[in-house]
This record gives sequence, C-alpha cells and structure tokens, in this order.
Amino acid sequence: MSNPSSTSSQRETFAGRGAFIMAAIGSAVGLGNIWRFPYTTYENGGGAFILPYIIALLTAGLPLLFLDYAIGHKYRGGAPLSFRRFSPKFETFGWWQVLINVIIGIYYAVVLGWAASYTYFSLNSAWGDKPVDFFVGEFLKMGDITQGVSFEFVGAVTGPLVAVWLVAIAVLALGIKKGISAASNILMPLLVVMFLILVGYSLTLPGAAKGLDALFTPNWEKLTDPSVWIAAYGQIFFSLSICFGIMITYASYLKPKTDLTGSGLVVGFANSGFELLAGIGVFAALGFMATAAGQEVNEVAKGGIGLAFFAFPTIINQAPMGALVGILFFGSLTFAALTSFISVVEVIVSAVQDKLNAGRVKATLLVGIPMMVVSVMLFGTTTGLPMLDVMDKFVNQFGIVAVAFVSLVVIVTSEKLSTLERHINEVSSFKVGFIWRLCIVVTAGVLAFMLFSEIAKVYREGYEGYPSWFVNTFGWGMAIGLAIVAYLLSRLAWKNEPKGEL
Ligand code: ALA
Repeated sequence: MSNPSSTSSQRETFAGRGAFIMAAIGSAVGLGNIWRFPYTTYENGGGAFILPYIIALLTAGLPLLFLDYAIGHKYRGGAPLSFRRFSPKFETFGWWQVLINVIIGIYYAVVLGWAASYTYFSLNSAWGDKPVDFFVGEFLKMGDITQGVSFEFVGAVTGPLVAVWLVAIAVLALGIKKGISAASNILMPLLVVMFLILVGYSLTLPGAAKGLDALFTPNWEKLTDPSVWIAAYGQIFFSLSICFGIMITYASYLKPKTDLTGSGLVVGFANSGFELLAGIGVFAALGFMATAAGQEVNEVAKGGIGLAFFAFPTIINQAPMGALVGILFFGSLTFAALTSFISVVEVIVSAVQDKLNAGRVKATLLVGIPMMVVSVMLFGTTTGLPMLDVMDKFVNQFGIVAVAFVSLVVIVTSEKLSTLERHINEVSSFKVGFIWRLCIVVTAGVLAFMLFSEIAKVYREGYEGYPSWFVNTFGWGMAIGLAIVAYLLSRLAWKNEPKGEL
C-alpha cells in the first residue's frame, strides 16, 4: 500500500516568490476587502475600529499566516496531507478546512456571478431607478421565506453562475503556473489600476469628505464592546484567507528555499492596504449619495449585499459618468472575487489530488463539476439569497473560527510548534520566536471566546428572523455536519499512502 512516489514528489511549484505573492494577494483580496471591511469598520466604531483591527492583524493575522505557510511549505501537501504529515491523527482537521471551502465556494461563486452580471448591467443602469426592487424582485425573483420556501431556477442568476464555475474550472485545470499564477498576474494589476481610478474618482465627488468623516470619526466607547473585537478578528481571518486551508495549500507549491515571513509581511500589509483603500473609496461614494439625497451617511450606509447591489446602483444612477463608475466598481468586485474564489476551490482540488493521487485535470473535474451543480441547485433559485446569508454567517462566524481554534489547539498541544518555528527560521529573513508562539496561544484563546459568545448570541436571539428550521438546517446542521464528514473523509484510505513527516 505504501508507495513513496506520492504526488508530493511531482508537486508543481510557483515560478518564484513573486508569483506566489501575487497569487496569495489575489486570494486575500476579495469580497472581504471590498464589501465587508468598509461597513464592518463603520459599524464597529469607525476610526476607533482601526485599533482592534491592527492588533488583530499583528497578533493573529500575521503570526497565523506564517503558521499556515510553515505547515504547507514544510509538509508539502494540501490541508489534509499536510495535517496528516504533521501527525496522522490530525488529518480530520485538514478535511474540516477543506469542507469549509466547499461551503464558501458554492456561495462565493454566486456573489461573483451577480457582480459579473452587474458589471454588464452598469452599461445602461438596467436596474432603473429602483435598485432594491430590481435586485430582489426582477433579478433574483426572491420569494418571501416566511411564507414558505420555493426552489425555482432563475435563469438570469444561473447562467452567469455556470459561467463563473467554468472559468474557475478551466483556470484550475491548467495548474499552478499556467492557471492560478497566470490568472493572478493578469487580474491583480488590472484590479489595482481599476480600483485606484475608482477611489480617485470617488474622492472628487461632492460630499466625499462627509463619507470619510462618517467612516473615520472614532467612537472610542465601542472599544469596550467585545463584539467589536470579535468583528476585527473575524475580518482578519476571512480577509487574509488564514486558518481554513488556503494558505497551507498555496505554500505547498513554494520552492524549498523561499522566504516565508518576508512573503507573509508583503501579503498581509498589501491586503490591509487594499482594505483601507476600499473603505476610503466606498465611503467617499456613500458620502456623495447621502449628499445628493439630502440625507446623513448613516441613512445610506449598508453592509455586504446592500452596499454593492442597492447603494452602488443608486450612486451609479446619480454620479457623472455613472456607467464608468459601475464598470470600475463591479469589475473590481468581479476580479477580486474571482482570484479568491479560485483559491477557495484550489484547496479542495489539491486535497482530492493528494488523496486519490490523481492528475490535475481529473481532480479539478471531480471537484468542480459536482460543486457547480450544488451551487446552481441551491443558489440559482428563488431561495438563493436567504440561504447564502445563513450559510455565510454560520461558516464565517462559526465554521472558520471553530476550525481555526481546534487546529491551533492541536498544533500547540502537540508540541510541534517549535519544529515549525525552526522551519520558518531556516528559510526566512524575518525570524520568529517566543512572541510568535505567544501570539498563537493567545489567538487560540481569543478564538475560543469568539466562538462561545457568538454561539450564545445566535442561540439566544436567532438569526435575522429566519424560521428556526431553516437556520437549524442550513446553519447549525451544516456547521456540525462538516466536522462529522471531515472525520469520515479522514478514515478513507489513501490511494498512495503518503510518507510520514518529511
Ligand atoms: N480572503 C477572501 C476574501 O476576502 C476569501 O474575500
């Protein structure tokens, strides 16, 4: 059964450190930066949020990014193989991370499809003067979930959704250099140029300063509220793509002698820089929207879906050269989300490739086609929006936090942290030591606190008024089911038993 010619010996690599950094930034910069960060900052104390955000970045984001890189680079496998090589008992945690990506992947594609459609709709403001009615009624054809659930397919959503999946499948089938790297090398520079033009333009709109005031005016009292700190850590985890397998997988494609911490610092600060830029651009535009409507920014500011698909179409309707603003905004959202989406699906492809010792094209099709079908069946329907909302909440707030917490606990208690520390220091320019280990232990504690306080809150208050059977099935059921399925997957035999620790 044991065959040393495991896939790791033929593992493809990025052409160099630059290519890896570009792909890692492509993964990090996504919906989390453009639509999650601005509103999260605004809602959690504005300028004062920057403090917990920076603390979370420095004490959790960067140290855990280094940890992910170290695991992937030392054990040279996707998440399950890397964890298995770390210790055979730990394979389950790798699969748990993979399954988190399965869920994120099937709904991330949907938002990506919407963003691509809206890039096209921007040409003639297809939403007319009622963007909310258009999005919910005409575009999504959403039913009232409290009146019962219907799963009717919506053609306008399904078409772009299938297209997004086919693009990602094609990129992933081409492999690391010709697929992932090439896509990041084209899309990331385009994204930066488009976004800089958008932010520059937003700053010239009347009322922009009012928006920036609303975003950055600090509300220091908020810092005593634990949920603000939870929001900062949650933002960093999702945005940096850490602790759910992505960075382990990407780092497994690095050449043996690669500066891990130096690369991590570039990726971490680039991601936060982009986030800040997005905050400035989005709130400058919201300031314009509020001014044009004679309202306050707090009356127009919205999070997530509301920001992109309700507020921005209104801004596009009112701004001079609105079509251009629309193409730049939705085009940026599409490009940013596409490179992140590719990294999410790559975690699964890589895991399947390792486990079955399969070729890249076969593994990509084995993963991509079923995921596309599930994505379309669940989200290409009239119940797509509430389903997405619940899954996003439960996977982000609980799934990622739970898997990150458990993974950190097993890593720390296995006493192998020093092995990883040595590995990092052997190859990296910026050395890590006691402070790094301390940050990891403290972050495990913070994650435990986040998990229990959020579980208690949703348990007490429910979620967004959705029916409890819906939240139980697609929220709790899914979150708990993932851990169980992960264990079962770890029990399946490997096609070629990988060697132990390298
Ligand atoms: N890091 C990715 C994002 O921010 C997943 O959207």
